[in-house]
Amino acid sequence: MNAFDLTGRTILVTGASSGLGRQCAITISEYGGNVIITGRNKERLAETLRMLKKGDHQSITADLTDQNGISSLTDGLPKLNGVVYSIGVSDLSPARFITEETITKTFKISYEASVLLTSRLLGKKKLMNDACSLVFISSISTRYPFVGGAMYISAKAALEAYARVLALELAPKGIRSNCISPAFVKTPMLDETAENYSQEAVKKIEERQVLGLGEPEDVANTVVFFLSDASKWITATNLILGGG
Ligand SMILES: NC(=O)c1ccc[n+]([C@@H]2O[C@H](COP(=O)([O-])OP(=O)(O)OC[C@H]3O[C@@H](n4cnc5c(N)ncnc54)[C@H](OP(=O)(O)O)[C@@H]3O)[C@@H](O)[C@H]2O)c1
Repeated sequence: MNAFDLTGRTILVTGASSGLGRQCAITISEYGGNVIITGRNKERLAETLRMLKKGDHQSITADLTDQNGISSLTDGLPKLNGVVYSIGVSDLSPARFITEETITKTFKISYEASVLLTSRLLGKKKLMNDACSLVFISSISTRYPFVGGAMYISAKAALEAYARVLALELAPKGIRSNCISPAFVKTPMLDETAENYSQEAVKKIEERQVLGLGEPEDVANTVVFFLSDASKWITATNLILGGG
């Protein structure tokens, strides 16, 4: 038996219309999992759906910063064997420019949306199977911060703390909760960083990463590990990827 096999498992992937979430959905389907993909952009979500290996997949468009959006996602969901939380926004600004609006926007997308979605999944409908595995995509920046990242990094640090408590609360049900914390990966989010700062800044980041920039597959393969039985004795961890 292949401990990484996801055949017959149903996995929800947020942020699946782009970048890491998209690649996680593709790789999960390659390991035999059925994927429910979600994001806001209908066209890009449909593109992801076309990229999946054949299976019983579904695509649901939803804005997860809105309670109605969370309901429209969760109302028709089957029981889940795993959730990958890849929703996020990289809104960077030096500390002196942080406003109430910046805090609200970053925390709503990068923290609150995942927390409230989880409450709904655990709530009345009990949409998580026993032995469900939750994988939160945090960031290496909570260990190695960068200038301008105060809100992004604070929201990720809060998410890591939440994921650890969740691991303790859900362990009696056999549900596991782990974070993975990638260094910079080649995705649209990195292109945005290059646009907001400069190619030079991205080059400096690349030089600092001992193994260079990551590929989305590097993250997706690790996510498969955490979703699968290969990691069935691992919970409350935070695995750093690509950092030194
Ligand atoms: N790329 C990196 O180098 C890197 C490194 C470390 C950690 N991460 C983390 O990995 C995660 C994915 O990053 P990425 O590079 O794949 O970013 P990305 O390409 O910008 O994707 C972000 C995803 O979040 C979704 N999203 C944003 N706001 C949403 C909302 N209100 N409701 C529902 N979905 C929403 C987007 O959906 P729509 O586009 O459809 O709105 C998109 O699918 C993020 O949490 C990021 O912080 C990334």
